[in-house]
Amino acid sequence: MSEDRIYSVPLSHVGDFEFDDAVADVFPDMIRRSVPGYSTMLSMIGQCAHQFSVAGTNLYDLGCSLGAGTVLLDQHAARDCRVIAVDNSEAMVSRLQERQLNRTDVILQDIRETKIENASVVVLNLTLQFLPPAERTDLIRHIADGMNSGGALLLSEKVCFDGPEQQGLMTQLHHEFKRSHGYSDLEIAQKRTAIENRLIPETLEAHVARLEQVGFQTVTPWFQCFTFASILALR
Ligand SMILES: C[S@@+](CC[C@H](N)C(=O)[O-])C[C@H]1O[C@@H](n2cnc3c(N)ncnc32)[C@H](O)[C@@H]1O
Repeated sequence: MSEDRIYSVPLSHVGDFEFDDAVADVFPDMIRRSVPGYSTMLSMIGQCAHQFSVAGTNLYDLGCSLGAGTVLLDQHAARDCRVIAVDNSEAMVSRLQERQLNRTDVILQDIRETKIENASVVVLNLTLQFLPPAERTDLIRHIADGMNSGGALLLSEKVCFDGPEQQGLMTQLHHEFKRSHGYSDLEIAQKRTAIENRLIPETLEAHVARLEQVGFQTVTPWFQCFTFASILALR
């Protein structure tokens, strides 16, 4: 696995974060050292595919990147299922297409354009946060409309907090997690500058309210570590 050194030298200008070739090359290392609990989030994708996929239905991985979740959907889906993995980064999609998963179609597309139909499992693992907040409810409603009764949406996000003290404490703990995984203060600061206009977090409460508003029946936050949380929502 290639090591993420993208922000290790001082940059004269820190541009907005992009999921380009440089990021795709180091992405597994980047996400493992940046997102506390990432491996726990992934393990639930496999478990949910096993539990909630129904024979003959579709499973979606929206914002699939290199397919860490896609592979688990492909492995654990019920018989006669299709997995549809979608990302609008050519760098990510081209690498995932090389993996040749038997039951998976990998599509280069904006997830706002993806047709969702006959879905038993939908995964949005750290993807919704990159959409403009004003467009998120439409996407979640569109997903809900394409899901079968009893289907499962797994939503993982970076979250923020209403209280400034909670926000400060959780941010500090997240940065300490990154330091303990080898990122320098310079890397942490430059990555933060790069991503702050691209990744707009919302509170966990806002996510739960939106999911309930569009018609998910059972909405349960099942995991949180500092500024990252994961919700299971049943249709
Ligand atoms: C943090 S990564 C997701 C990680 C991945 N789900 C995993 O679990 O390993 C976010 C991904 O969402 C993709 N993305 C962001 N906005 C998108 C959009 N509007 N349509 C499709 N993909 C999008 C990015 O290209 C990127 O690959």
